[in-house]
Amino acid sequence: MDKAKEAAAPTASAPAAAGLRGVVAATTSIGDVNGEKGELIYQGINIHDLARYSTFEEVIFLLWNGRLPKRAELDDLKRNISANCELQPELLALMQKFPRDAEPMDTLRTAVSALAFYDKSAKDISREAAVRTATRLVGQFPTIVATLARLRKEQEPVAPKPDLNVATNFLYMLKGEMPSEQDAHIFDVGLILQADHELNASTFTSRVVAGTLADMYGAVTAAIAALSGPLHGGANTNVMKMLLEIGEMEKVEPYVRNALAEKKKIMGIGHAVYKTEDPRATNFRRFSKEMAEAKGEAKWYEMSLKIEEIMKREKGMYPNVDFFSASTFYMMGIPLEQYTPIFAVSRISGWTGHILEQYANNKLIRPRAEYVGPRNVPYVSIDER
Ligand code: COA
Repeated sequence: MDKAKEAAAPTASAPAAAGLRGVVAATTSIGDVNGEKGELIYQGINIHDLARYSTFEEVIFLLWNGRLPKRAELDDLKRNISANCELQPELLALMQKFPRDAEPMDTLRTAVSALAFYDKSAKDISREAAVRTATRLVGQFPTIVATLARLRKEQEPVAPKPDLNVATNFLYMLKGEMPSEQDAHIFDVGLILQADHELNASTFTSRVVAGTLADMYGAVTAAIAALSGPLHGGANTNVMKMLLEIGEMEKVEPYVRNALAEKKKIMGIGHAVYKTEDPRATNFRRFSKEMAEAKGEAKWYEMSLKIEEIMKREKGMYPNVDFFSASTFYMMGIPLEQYTPIFAVSRISGWTGHILEQYANNKLIRPRAEYVGPRNVPYVSIDER
């Protein structure tokens, strides 16, 4: 809308929905959340089936193409992801200059933004080019996150092994040693579980940016910023910080009671859409238990169960995806501050899926605001104020 038309348009009359709750702001065939039933589907397929039978690479294809890949298509995608997993030397040099104590999500955001410098076709948003960019991003994310994690600990970066899948490669690059089959499998399913979640804050952000026809790097950079907030992706790190702060089983009940009395939120609990159990939490609860058994360290899992029980009883609230993923990753030996970047390693698949969908049928996203300020206020010159 040009300036003259916008000025002439009526002011918004409907009251604003706080936090846009319940507002339908896009059509999508990528994923759907049924908050009442606690169901999540990707392109029609139930998340529990994908968690049981699929792989992260298969899910990426599914999110981008609307169907599961045939074998040759999957092989092709895997090859293309692998071909994109090595770091550009210029990007590595830039990352080496980041302050060691910078927040991991801030360093990820800056590194991903800089990726655009080294892609001559970054501005091409045709489907073919955009899928190429999306594949590059999916290939780069695990290497960038693992490299940044090592650099902040003054460790030498570990080069990716192109023959490994995303999950195994990431754990290998992060720790500098091959993960166990169990760790790699649980991590792979973890990536599936966090891949997409309809119009969550970061995905909506990515669509708003893509809706201006800005390039995919810009849209993803903005999404990373949105994901970094403690009310979104930042919750998983805070869950583990809370568990460590509580420290032992006997202190769980008083800690939670005290937090509730002080009107503090318990991280990893509650959800803007789910009114019952988040189906991703169902899977991560199982993984937290499996990790506890495998590592002989039941404490974090059992403390989580206790917090869950109290929150259900006292507030009728349920765990979300971040609640049990925290203890799962902790027992896998992943540093706390990497949980949110890991979320991004997974969610890049959903973000890029939504950006592709937005480009394919674009309309600038430009809602109205309910104006609640005064009107007809006379302008007072600076000397008379
Ligand atoms: N612990 C304790 N109380 C909580 C709570 C939590 N985790 N989450 C919500 N509440 C309470 C609020 O204090 C508020 O109480 P009040 O009405 O007495 O003021 C009420 O429930 C509604 O909270 P609100 O934040 O407005 O609900 P929402 O639907 O917008 O919340 C979240 C969704 C996710 C932002 C919220 O549950 C939350 O902050 N959870 C913790 C952070 C988290 O885990 N985020 C990851 C999401 S996947």
